[in-house]
Amino acid sequence: MDLRGSKILLVGACGMLAGHLIPQLKRRQADLVYADIRRIDGFSEECLPLDMTNLEQVHRLVAQVKPQVIINCAAYTAVDDAEDKIELALRVNAIGPKNLAQAARDCGATLVHISSDYVYGGLGHIDRPRTPYLEDEEVSPCGIYGHSKWLGDEFIKAILPAQHLILRTSWLHGLYGPNFVATIVRVAREKHELRVVNDQIGSPTWAEWLAVTICELLGKKCLGIFHASSHGDISWYDFAKEIVRQSGLATKVLPQITAEAKRKAPRPPYSTMNVSKLENALGHACPSWQDGLAAHLESIKAL
Ligand SMILES: NC(=O)c1ccc[n+]([C@@H]2O[C@H](COP(=O)([O-])OP(=O)(O)OC[C@H]3O[C@@H](n4cnc5c(N)ncnc54)[C@H](OP(=O)(O)O)[C@@H]3O)[C@@H](O)[C@H]2O)c1
Repeated sequence: MDLRGSKILLVGACGMLAGHLIPQLKRRQADLVYADIRRIDGFSEECLPLDMTNLEQVHRLVAQVKPQVIINCAAYTAVDDAEDKIELALRVNAIGPKNLAQAARDCGATLVHISSDYVYGGLGHIDRPRTPYLEDEEVSPCGIYGHSKWLGDEFIKAILPAQHLILRTSWLHGLYGPNFVATIVRVAREKHELRVVNDQIGSPTWAEWLAVTICELLGKKCLGIFHASSHGDISWYDFAKEIVRQSGLATKVLPQITAEAKRKAPRPPYSTMNVSKLENALGHACPSWQDGLAAHLESIKAL
């Protein structure tokens, strides 16, 4: 699909990933309409108010905009809070995508949706060998957040079987929202030492790369489910050490186990995803997480 002039409705336009996606879509001259439940300071575009959990609002907006593509970057992403706010997490991450899928079906649009590595690594995967997950293998969602994201995927697949593009990503870090890289850089500047868990393994993913990847896949009219994360995996502890090293900071990073971190929600002990399907579709390799981190730190410096 040539994105030039394509009418695209971007839901969750004020979030971290959307902040990277907007310039990429603009560069390709897409005809963009932005929507979000909130409006952030400094967001220079007109952003239409939308609560995607409200079916009537979704239908009204989609009927008015008549998009060819709806990109859903909106989600309830507070993994620990989701354990207490179960209904809210399910409404936003499952019913929201369901509503968007219904509206997309009614207006003949393609729905691009961002899913998560938290659909893997739950109790059903405890004894699974640690090899990267494949798109077509059985999921085992981790915690309320993982279950809510998985339900969102299932609703979309059922309602829009031939017109969805679902990208499961992991450990997303970017410039436009709170994330692990920003937190470690900030805390490492303030403290002499910090403790980070060393028994959770996954693939950190640079949001700018994911934004470009979404555009590339749309350009190639790719549909279906894809894993979309960096090559290679690492523990949060080793990732933090690398962030501190690449930032030229002297803070000491110490390991701790998940139980010591006392977080409310369970975390996948291993959530590395196989990205071969994506690489075949793109025709080139995904970057390593090291490259993604370097690009992020360069962008912080450039700002
Ligand atoms: N961040 C990660 O590490 C990570 C990892 C894997 C997958 N993902 C997935 O990647 C996607 C993008 O994540 P992100 O970190 O960019 O998210 P984000 O920064 O939290 O942005 C999400 C946006 O959606 C908005 N929103 C929440 N509820 C809404 C509703 N009912 N209707 C409309 N908008 C609503 C949020 O507003 P409020 O802030 O006011 O709620 C926020 O502006 C999500 O699907 C997420 O699940 C993220």
